[in-house]
Amino acid sequence: MSKNIVVAIDGYSSCGKSTLAKALAKKLHFIYVDSGAMYRAVTLYFLRNKIDVNNEEQVHEALQNIHLNFHSRDYETHITLNDEEVSDEIRLMPVSENVSAVSAIREVRKEMVAQQQRMSRSKNVIMDGRDIGTAVFPHAQVKLFMTADPKIRAERRYKELAPKNPDITLEDVFENLAHRDYADTTRKESPLVRAEDAIILDNTNLTPDEQLAFALSKIEPFLKK
Ligand code: DC
Repeated sequence: MSKNIVVAIDGYSSCGKSTLAKALAKKLHFIYVDSGAMYRAVTLYFLRNKIDVNNEEQVHEALQNIHLNFHSRDYETHITLNDEEVSDEIRLMPVSENVSAVSAIREVRKEMVAQQQRMSRSKNVIMDGRDIGTAVFPHAQVKLFMTADPKIRAERRYKELAPKNPDITLEDVFENLAHRDYADTTRKESPLVRAEDAIILDNTNLTPDEQLAFALSKIEPFLKK
């Protein structure tokens, strides 16, 4: 039986991880999994049901009642939370402002990691997130660690969010990214850290096509094996 290929893409918030991951998945016909969408959907459930992140019992019970599913259409992320499509709602500011606290909870991570690992069992997978090359797939064949200038990242994200969030400012986005970078890199459970064998991809001055070519050059050797 041939071994499935796993490409792990980690990095800071709004570095273009999902843009690259989607382009790679399309080109290579791999499954694309946006692991951040899973933490965001859990956060949405917690917000709607007023789950106290410090109350272990509430968190445990909530996790029993959360069922997430991905539906891949055109390599875009479509995620359902208990059969409700929440792909747009999970991108709004209330979720962005609370997702770091929810994703720092050990039990939440344990459950998400188990689900993520199951997704690579029968398919070649590209997964992006914060701990994919360190905790979820430490044996991934290719690991990329993406980074870019924080100001450029905020501008890119602002352009994405502004049409759906008319009240948002560039400062709000910059602050949210800075807060999430800090929380993601300093949390106790699986902090964002570059795996020793991850290749750094700083895309401050790279076009999407240049990033795609770079990543493909790292993956192609494994396709021939
Ligand atoms: O990729 P994103 O910005 O949509 O992720 C949202 C949040 O989820 C991010 O601030 C940290 C968390 N996250 C995580 O802790 N581990 C992952 N593998 C993916 C995301």
